[in-house]
Amino acid sequence: MNPFESIGKKYQTLPKVDLTQGRSIAYSRSTTRRLMELIDANAHGNVHGGVIMRMVDDAAAIVAIKHSQNPTVVTARVERFDFLSPAFIGDVVSVHCEMRYVGRTSMEVGVKVMAEDVITEEVRNIANSYLIYVALDANRKPTPVPPLVPADNEEKAIIERASVRRKRRQKIDEEVKQTKEIKD
Ligand SMILES: CC(C)(COP(=O)(O)OP(=O)(O)OC[C@H]1O[C@@H](n2cnc3c(N)ncnc32)[C@H](O)[C@@H]1OP(=O)(O)O)[C@@H](O)C(=O)NCCC(=O)NCCS
Repeated sequence: MNPFESIGKKYQTLPKVDLTQGRSIAYSRSTTRRLMELIDANAHGNVHGGVIMRMVDDAAAIVAIKHSQNPTVVTARVERFDFLSPAFIGDVVSVHCEMRYVGRTSMEVGVKVMAEDVITEEVRNIANSYLIYVALDANRKPTPVPPLVPADNEEKAIIERASVRRKRRQKIDEEVKQTKEIKD
Protein backbone atom coordinates (compact mmCIF):
# COMPACT_ATOMS: atom_id res chain seq x y z
CA MET A 1 0.00 0.00 0.00
CA ASN A 2 1.16 3.54 -0.76
CA PRO A 3 2.36 4.95 2.63
CA PHE A 4 0.34 8.14 2.15
CA GLU A 5 -2.84 6.05 1.77
CA SER A 6 -2.19 4.28 5.05
CA ILE A 7 -1.60 7.61 6.85
CA GLY A 8 -4.89 8.93 5.40
CA LYS A 9 -6.76 5.79 6.53
CA LYS A 10 -5.36 6.03 10.07
CA TYR A 11 -7.06 9.39 10.60
CA GLN A 12 -10.34 8.76 8.75
CA THR A 13 -12.24 8.88 12.03
CA LEU A 14 -10.68 11.57 14.18
CA PRO A 15 -11.88 12.06 17.77
CA LYS A 16 -14.28 14.98 18.17
CA VAL A 17 -12.38 17.86 19.78
CA ASP A 18 -14.19 19.73 22.55
CA LEU A 19 -13.37 23.36 21.74
CA THR A 20 -14.76 24.55 25.07
CA GLN A 21 -12.18 22.48 26.95
CA GLY A 22 -9.10 24.69 27.44
CA ARG A 23 -5.62 23.19 27.74
CA SER A 24 -2.71 24.42 29.80
CA ILE A 25 0.85 25.05 28.62
CA ALA A 26 2.00 22.03 30.64
CA TYR A 27 -0.47 19.78 28.77
CA SER A 28 1.46 19.89 25.48
CA ARG A 29 4.99 20.80 26.66
CA SER A 30 7.51 18.53 24.94
CA THR A 31 11.24 17.87 24.57
CA THR A 32 12.93 16.08 21.67
CA ARG A 33 16.56 14.91 22.01
CA ARG A 34 19.07 13.49 19.56
CA LEU A 35 22.79 12.70 19.43
CA MET A 36 24.53 14.73 16.69
CA GLU A 37 26.30 12.43 14.23
CA LEU A 38 28.63 12.89 11.23
CA ILE A 39 25.64 13.07 8.88
CA ASP A 40 24.58 16.26 10.73
CA ALA A 41 27.86 18.14 10.03
CA ASN A 42 28.43 21.22 7.89
CA ALA A 43 31.67 21.95 6.01
CA HIS A 44 33.25 23.38 9.22
CA GLY A 45 32.64 20.16 11.17
CA ASN A 46 29.96 21.74 13.40
CA VAL A 47 26.29 20.80 13.30
CA HIS A 48 24.57 22.22 10.21
CA GLY A 49 22.09 25.00 11.07
CA GLY A 50 19.48 23.37 8.84
CA VAL A 51 19.62 20.21 10.96
CA ILE A 52 18.75 22.27 14.04
CA MET A 53 15.98 24.10 12.15
CA ARG A 54 14.40 20.81 11.06
CA MET A 55 14.60 19.42 14.59
CA VAL A 56 12.93 22.59 15.88
CA ASP A 57 10.09 22.46 13.33
CA ASP A 58 9.48 18.74 14.00
CA ALA A 59 9.58 19.17 17.78
CA ALA A 60 7.38 22.29 17.88
CA ALA A 61 4.82 20.65 15.58
CA ILE A 62 4.36 17.90 18.21
CA VAL A 63 3.20 20.59 20.67
CA ALA A 64 0.74 22.07 18.14
CA ILE A 65 -0.62 18.60 17.23
CA LYS A 66 -1.04 17.65 20.87
CA HIS A 67 -2.72 20.93 21.88
CA SER A 68 -5.09 20.98 18.91
CA GLN A 69 -5.63 17.20 18.87
CA ASN A 70 -5.33 17.57 15.11
CA PRO A 71 -2.71 15.72 13.04
CA THR A 72 -2.86 18.34 10.27
CA VAL A 73 -1.04 21.42 11.47
CA VAL A 74 1.15 23.45 9.13
CA THR A 75 3.99 25.83 9.88
CA ALA A 76 2.69 29.29 8.93
CA ARG A 77 5.68 31.27 10.13
CA VAL A 78 9.07 31.04 11.79
CA GLU A 79 8.81 34.27 13.73
CA ARG A 80 12.40 34.29 15.02
CA PHE A 81 15.31 31.92 14.81
CA ASP A 82 18.38 32.99 16.79
CA PHE A 83 21.50 30.83 16.62
CA LEU A 84 23.46 31.69 19.76
CA SER A 85 26.42 29.29 19.51
CA PRO A 86 27.39 26.21 17.50
CA ALA A 87 26.55 22.60 18.35
CA PHE A 88 29.26 19.99 17.83
CA ILE A 89 29.23 16.42 16.55
CA GLY A 90 28.84 14.19 19.62
CA ASP A 91 26.64 16.73 21.47
CA VAL A 92 23.16 15.73 22.53
CA VAL A 93 20.78 18.41 21.24
CA SER A 94 17.54 18.91 23.19
CA VAL A 95 14.67 20.95 21.78
CA HIS A 96 12.36 22.19 24.54
CA CYS A 97 9.00 23.38 23.21
CA GLU A 98 5.89 24.85 24.81
CA MET A 99 2.71 26.51 23.67
CA ARG A 100 2.83 30.24 24.28
CA TYR A 101 -0.31 31.60 22.65
CA VAL A 102 -3.40 30.26 20.93
CA GLY A 103 -5.60 32.32 18.62
CA ARG A 104 -8.69 30.97 16.85
CA THR A 105 -6.90 28.59 14.49
CA SER A 106 -3.23 29.49 15.04
CA MET A 107 -0.78 28.53 17.78
CA GLU A 108 2.55 30.08 18.78
CA VAL A 109 5.15 27.62 20.08
CA GLY A 110 8.25 28.85 21.92
CA VAL A 111 11.44 26.84 21.51
CA LYS A 112 14.71 26.70 23.44
CA VAL A 113 17.50 24.52 22.01
CA MET A 114 20.24 23.18 24.29
CA ALA A 115 23.41 21.25 23.39
CA GLU A 116 25.00 19.00 26.00
CA ASP A 117 28.43 17.40 26.03
CA VAL A 118 27.30 14.36 27.99
CA ILE A 119 30.88 13.46 28.93
CA THR A 120 31.79 16.82 30.51
CA GLU A 121 28.12 17.65 31.32
CA GLU A 122 28.57 21.14 29.82
CA VAL A 123 25.17 22.43 28.66
CA ARG A 124 24.75 25.41 26.32
CA ASN A 125 21.71 27.28 25.00
CA ILE A 126 22.49 27.19 21.27
CA ALA A 127 19.29 28.59 19.72
CA ASN A 128 15.85 30.07 20.43
CA SER A 129 12.85 30.31 18.19
CA TYR A 130 9.12 31.05 17.93
CA LEU A 131 7.01 29.28 15.36
CA ILE A 132 3.38 29.69 14.40
CA TYR A 133 1.26 26.73 13.35
CA VAL A 134 -2.23 26.68 11.87
CA ALA A 135 -4.59 23.72 12.31
CA LEU A 136 -6.37 22.57 9.15
CA ASP A 137 -9.62 20.67 8.59
CA ALA A 138 -10.26 17.87 6.10
CA ASN A 139 -10.52 20.48 3.30
CA ARG A 140 -7.18 21.97 4.36
CA LYS A 141 -8.86 25.15 5.61
CA PRO A 142 -7.92 26.73 8.98
CA THR A 143 -10.01 25.19 11.75
CA PRO A 144 -10.52 26.28 15.39
CA VAL A 145 -8.40 24.85 18.19
CA PRO A 146 -9.08 24.61 21.95
CA PRO A 147 -8.13 27.73 23.95
CA LEU A 148 -4.93 27.98 25.98
CA VAL A 149 -5.89 28.27 29.64
CA PRO A 150 -3.16 29.08 32.17
CA ALA A 151 -2.74 26.51 34.94
CA ASP A 152 -0.99 28.99 37.25
CA ASN A 153 0.41 32.54 37.45
CA GLU A 154 3.62 31.56 35.67
CA GLU A 155 1.67 30.28 32.66
CA LYS A 156 -0.56 33.38 32.81
CA ALA A 157 2.52 35.63 32.50
CA ILE A 158 3.88 33.59 29.55
CA ILE A 159 0.57 33.90 27.68
CA GLU A 160 0.34 37.64 28.38
CA ARG A 161 3.85 38.23 26.98
CA ALA A 162 2.98 36.19 23.88
CA SER A 163 -0.23 38.16 23.46
CA VAL A 164 1.79 41.41 23.37
CA ARG A 165 4.09 39.82 20.74
CA ARG A 166 1.11 38.77 18.64
CA LYS A 167 -0.33 42.33 18.68
CA ARG A 168 3.09 43.74 17.70
CA ARG A 169 3.37 41.18 14.90
CA GLN A 170 -0.10 42.02 13.58
CA LYS A 171 0.77 45.74 13.58
CA ILE A 172 3.96 45.11 11.58
CA ASP A 173 2.07 42.81 9.16
CA GLU A 174 -0.48 45.57 8.63
CA GLU A 175 2.28 48.14 7.94
CA VAL A 176 3.97 45.77 5.46
CA LYS A 177 0.64 45.19 3.71
CA GLN A 178 0.01 48.93 3.42
CA THR A 179 3.53 49.54 2.03
CA LYS A 180 2.92 46.85 -0.61
CA GLU A 181 -0.44 48.39 -1.54
CA ILE A 182 1.23 51.79 -2.03
CA LYS A 183 3.91 50.23 -4.31
CA ASP A 184 1.28 48.23 -6.32
C1 LIG B 1 -0.95 28.95 6.94
C2 LIG B 1 -2.15 28.94 6.03
C3 LIG B 1 -2.99 27.67 6.29
C4 LIG B 1 -3.00 30.18 6.36
O1 LIG B 1 -4.09 30.17 5.50
P1 LIG B 1 -4.99 31.48 5.35
O2 LIG B 1 -6.14 31.15 4.45
O3 LIG B 1 -4.14 32.65 5.01
O4 LIG B 1 -5.55 31.62 6.79
P2 LIG B 1 -6.28 32.82 7.50
O5 LIG B 1 -6.00 34.15 6.90
O6 LIG B 1 -7.73 32.41 7.65
O7 LIG B 1 -5.59 32.80 8.95
C5 LIG B 1 -5.76 31.68 9.81
C6 LIG B 1 -4.91 31.91 11.02
O8 LIG B 1 -3.54 31.78 10.68
C7 LIG B 1 -2.81 32.95 11.04
N1 LIG B 1 -1.82 33.15 10.00
C8 LIG B 1 -1.97 32.98 8.66
N2 LIG B 1 -0.82 33.22 8.03
C9 LIG B 1 0.08 33.55 9.00
C10 LIG B 1 1.45 33.92 8.97
N3 LIG B 1 2.15 34.00 7.84
N4 LIG B 1 2.06 34.20 10.14
C11 LIG B 1 1.38 34.13 11.31
N5 LIG B 1 0.07 33.77 11.39
C12 LIG B 1 -0.55 33.49 10.25
C13 LIG B 1 -3.86 34.06 11.10
O9 LIG B 1 -3.45 35.12 11.94
C14 LIG B 1 -5.05 33.30 11.65
O10 LIG B 1 -4.88 33.14 13.06
P3 LIG B 1 -6.14 33.00 14.08
O11 LIG B 1 -7.15 32.08 13.45
O12 LIG B 1 -5.56 32.39 15.31
O13 LIG B 1 -6.65 34.37 14.30
C15 LIG B 1 -1.75 28.97 4.52
O14 LIG B 1 -1.10 30.20 4.25
C16 LIG B 1 -0.86 27.81 4.14
O15 LIG B 1 -1.34 26.69 3.89
N6 LIG B 1 0.48 28.06 4.07
C17 LIG B 1 1.43 27.01 3.73
C18 LIG B 1 1.81 26.17 4.96
C19 LIG B 1 2.92 25.23 4.65
O16 LIG B 1 2.91 24.59 3.61
N7 LIG B 1 3.91 25.13 5.57
C20 LIG B 1 5.10 24.37 5.37
C21 LIG B 1 4.94 22.91 5.53
S1 LIG B 1 4.11 22.38 6.99
